[in-house]
Amino acid sequence: MSSLSSVVLDPTPAGVSWDAERIRPDFPMLRRLVRGNPLVYLDNAATALKPQAVIDRIVEYYTSYTANVARGVHTVSQEATERYEAVRAQAAAFLHVAPAEIVFTAGTTASLNLVAASYGGSALGAGDEVLVTELEHHSNLVPWHLVTRATGARVRAIPVLESGDLDLDWLERELSPRTKILAVSHASNVLGTVVPIATVARLAHRVGAVVVVDGAQAVPHLPIDLRALDCDFYAFSAHKLFGPTGLGVLFGRRSLLEGMAPWQGGGGMIASVEIEGSTYAPSPARFEAGTPPIAEVFGLGGVFDYLTTWDRAAALEHENVIARSAIERLSRIPGVRVFAGGAERVGVVAFAVDGVHPHDVGTALDAGGVAVRAGHHCAQPLMRRLGVTATVRASFAPYNTSRDVDALVAGVERARSVFGR
Ligand code: ALA
Repeated sequence: MSSLSSVVLDPTPAGVSWDAERIRPDFPMLRRLVRGNPLVYLDNAATALKPQAVIDRIVEYYTSYTANVARGVHTVSQEATERYEAVRAQAAAFLHVAPAEIVFTAGTTASLNLVAASYGGSALGAGDEVLVTELEHHSNLVPWHLVTRATGARVRAIPVLESGDLDLDWLERELSPRTKILAVSHASNVLGTVVPIATVARLAHRVGAVVVVDGAQAVPHLPIDLRALDCDFYAFSAHKLFGPTGLGVLFGRRSLLEGMAPWQGGGGMIASVEIEGSTYAPSPARFEAGTPPIAEVFGLGGVFDYLTTWDRAAALEHENVIARSAIERLSRIPGVRVFAGGAERVGVVAFAVDGVHPHDVGTALDAGGVAVRAGHHCAQPLMRRLGVTATVRASFAPYNTSRDVDALVAGVERARSVFGR
């Protein structure tokens, strides 16, 4: 299969109103030097930097609210519980759903494993199908491999077109009553492609399939209104949204969550326990066994508050301008192939330099303080589709500037001259 290398440049909109310089001081990591250079952080798709306001909220938990939640009658436990639940309400408002539909997990991977094991484990049987896409991260593939292996169902993938978009004709053709689950990324962590979730959900619902969305790469960029997207599950990670690691947010349609068996058992998720068996609390507590990531939930509350200080539409436009300029400038370097596509994209730019291993490009960039990801990006099927084993990936956030693109381009040119033949 020929490699997908489609670079469609929209005209840069005039007069973007976002001022990246205004928010840069909010992020202490941007004051760090790396190998004597100011850090140029272009690995936002792996994890985003954290503003001081979020770090302060985590410290506040440890300095003023340290207690377990949903267990104590004492004052601090109750205060911590109130704050923990208030963040659930913030997460629900952020996604435009109800608080009872929000489950806190350890991350997007944990959320997708929860849905695959609990929902998939009971909904799937021999001969059923889970449709995924060629764009998926391994975290939206392997959990489906595990559950289909156990149930006798099978996994098939919606192909990616040369344009970088999904082949929706294929989807329309292949959907059938056998399709029980459609598991799809909202945005690709390699191509940046944004998948039209509302459209795929409408198609999937026609055959009664449940739609599970990996939103990890979309939430940091796009406004998310789940009433409009109309999917059944949606997962994202706090740490890609300028928040702490170790925390995921899972939306599940209430009618589905209520019918699902627990994924993990332990304290905090039961109604009653006997030696021989147990009954379970309603959702979402049913899915939050054990002590949850309380400090991280406090931190996520800080993210939601902090984001109210941004004009997120302007931030997104800024990111898109920066990413388009990176695509354009990298594409002009001889021997550089940019893998970007899709009618709508987020600020993720994967590329390969002919004759130079992506790890060498990453190392050359690091020498100048430029942090990128190099490798298969946990998306081996997509790498095969692109005809490569690995790429370099620069990924952008609203604090990135055109100076960061200058540093990226200079670093790639340096890599070509040092490693290229
Ligand atoms: N899933 C993250 C990435 O794509 C780690 O970089």
